Amino acid sequence: MTAHITPLIIGNWKTTPATLKDAITFIKNLDKKYTASKIKLPKKGYYLAVPEVFISEIVKCSVHGYIGAQNVSGISLGQTTGETIPSQLLSTGSTFTLISHSEVRKRGETGDERAHKVALSLQSKLLTILCVGEQTRDKQGNYLSIVEEDIKQSLSLVSKNLFSNLVIAYEPVWAIGGTTPATPHECFEVVIAIRRALSSLVGIDYAKKVKVIYGGTVTKENAHLFIQEGGVDGLLIGRASQTVSSFMEIINICHGT
Ligand code: PGA
Repeated sequence: MTAHITPLIIGNWKTTPATLKDAITFIKNLDKKYTASKIKLPKKGYYLAVPEVFISEIVKCSVHGYIGAQNVSGISLGQTTGETIPSQLLSTGSTFTLISHSEVRKRGETGDERAHKVALSLQSKLLTILCVGEQTRDKQGNYLSIVEEDIKQSLSLVSKNLFSNLVIAYEPVWAIGGTTPATPHECFEVVIAIRRALSSLVGIDYAKKVKVIYGGTVTKENAHLFIQEGGVDGLLIGRASQTVSSFMEIINICHGT
């Protein structure tokens, strides 16, 4: 189990960079800047969800980060082609995984698959980052119940004593990959709904152990606002984690906030 470093700054490389060589160069440059930072940073102060085939090599060269995957299978060991199960991720040095990013959901992941992924990942002691978020917003506030129902279904197979290793990433789909993030206020409202759903599932004491983070067009300009006013324990960062300078700036800003 990974010690939780708060704030949780998690980069999502998606399908970048193009080669392992580029990935190693990135990590070396990032760690060089990390060591030289003027802010007092923890020994390990960032998380990076990298392409799965890079994990073991990146783990070897990363000094200041935790390395993880972008998806995992909920099917147990056996005869399933093209899937990677949590124990396999752990054995490559991965300490965490994202689950159900909206780009994975779009490719047809079902609610049942999601519930199995989350349960197996947590049972395997991977720090498990479950992504949830509405497609669009409506005036009636239905998006809040959509998020709450998603959480209840996705966690239906998880026993409450595993909640301390769970992170919920609130990622409104309309804010991912665009130019307009949620406002900290919009974020805060959904964080409350997420916490309400968690409490109704397992009670307040276990619900409190879950970290909630925000993702969707996070930049070095807006990162601090979410930490200060959005009610979150960290950030999930796509594009701004894919260049060394912007990712390092966000790490500095968030650890310095
Ligand atoms: P973005 O991506 O920061 O580029 O919007 C966020 C994500 O997909 O997790």
